[in-house]
Amino acid sequence: MQVYTSKTELNAFINTENRSNFSIGFVPTMGALHEGHLSLVKAALAENSLVVVSIFVNPTQFNNPEDLNKYPRTLAKDVLLLETFSKTEVVVYAPTVEAIYGSQTTVESFDFGGLESQMEGQFRPGHFDGVGTVVKRLFEIVQPKNAYFGEKDFQQLQIVKKMVEITQLPVHIKGCPIERAANGLALSSRNSRLSVLELENAALLYKTLQSVKHQFQHDDPKKISEWVRTQFHNHKLLRLEYFQISDVETLAPIQHKNQTKHYRAFIAVYAGDVRLIDNIALN
Ligand code: PAJ
Repeated sequence: MQVYTSKTELNAFINTENRSNFSIGFVPTMGALHEGHLSLVKAALAENSLVVVSIFVNPTQFNNPEDLNKYPRTLAKDVLLLETFSKTEVVVYAPTVEAIYGSQTTVESFDFGGLESQMEGQFRPGHFDGVGTVVKRLFEIVQPKNAYFGEKDFQQLQIVKKMVEITQLPVHIKGCPIERAANGLALSSRNSRLSVLELENAALLYKTLQSVKHQFQHDDPKKISEWVRTQFHNHKLLRLEYFQISDVETLAPIQHKNQTKHYRAFIAVYAGDVRLIDNIALN
C-alpha cells in the first residue's frame, strides 16, 4: 500500500491514474482506525475508483493539549488494517503538521451560520475552526469527488457541508451511519483509553439514547432532558457534560416538536479524562 507524506508525491500519483470515469473518494481521519473508519472506506470504495485515506492528528482542533498529547497514534497498524481492503485502490496520505500548516500553525475563522456555537462548539471553543481549516486544506490537496464522514460526529458532518457550501469547493459530502461495539458503545479511537470497567459502563450512553428515542414519541424535550440527567446523577464512573435534543438543520435545542422537522438527541460524557460523544435520530 502506498503511504504518502508529501503532497507533491500524492498529487503525482493521482495524476498518473488515468482511468476512464476516474473518481477519488476521500476519507479524512486522525488514525487509530477502527470499524467505524473502515465503514467509511467501504462506502468510498463502492462509489469511487480510488480512495484516499488521510491520517493526520490535527493540532488546531484540540482545545485540550492533554487530549492532543494522549491521542493514540498507530500508523503502522492503521496501514495493515487498510491493506485488508485493497493495496492498489486505497492509498494513505499521512502528512506532517508542517506539510499542512507550514511553519506557522494558523487557523481560519469561519461563519457556519450558528452551527458552530452549539454543543461541541460550546464545550470545545475553536474546535470547528480547526476542523474547517484542516478539512478545507485536505480537500484542496486531495481534490476528491466525494468525501465520507461519520454521523458519529453529526455536528462535524453538518459543519463540513456548510463549509463546502461557503467555499463552493466541488466535493460531495456523504454521511455514513454510526458503527457500534456489541454493547452499543459508538466506536471511537478514544475508547482505547478506557478501562474495562469504563468500557462496560459507557454502554449507558447508547442505552440512554435508545430510551430517549422511545420517550420522544410522547414526552416533551424538557422532561426527557431531566430524565437523562437523573441517569448520570452521582454516577461513579461517568460525568454528563451535555444532553440536547436538536433540529438536525440548525442544531439548536428545541422546546417543542414540529411534525415537519427532523430531530436528533446528542450526548457528551466524560469517563475519567476521556470524552465520549454519541447521538441518535429521533424521527
Ligand atoms: P476521526 O475522529 O478519526 O474520525 C474520522 C471519521 O470517522 C469522521 O468522519 C468520524 O465521524 C468517523 N467515525 C468515527 N467513529 C465512527 C463510528 N463509530 N461510526 C462511523 N463513523 C465514525 O473526525 C475526525 O477524525 C477529524 O475531525 C477529521 C474530520 C479527520 C478532521 O481532522
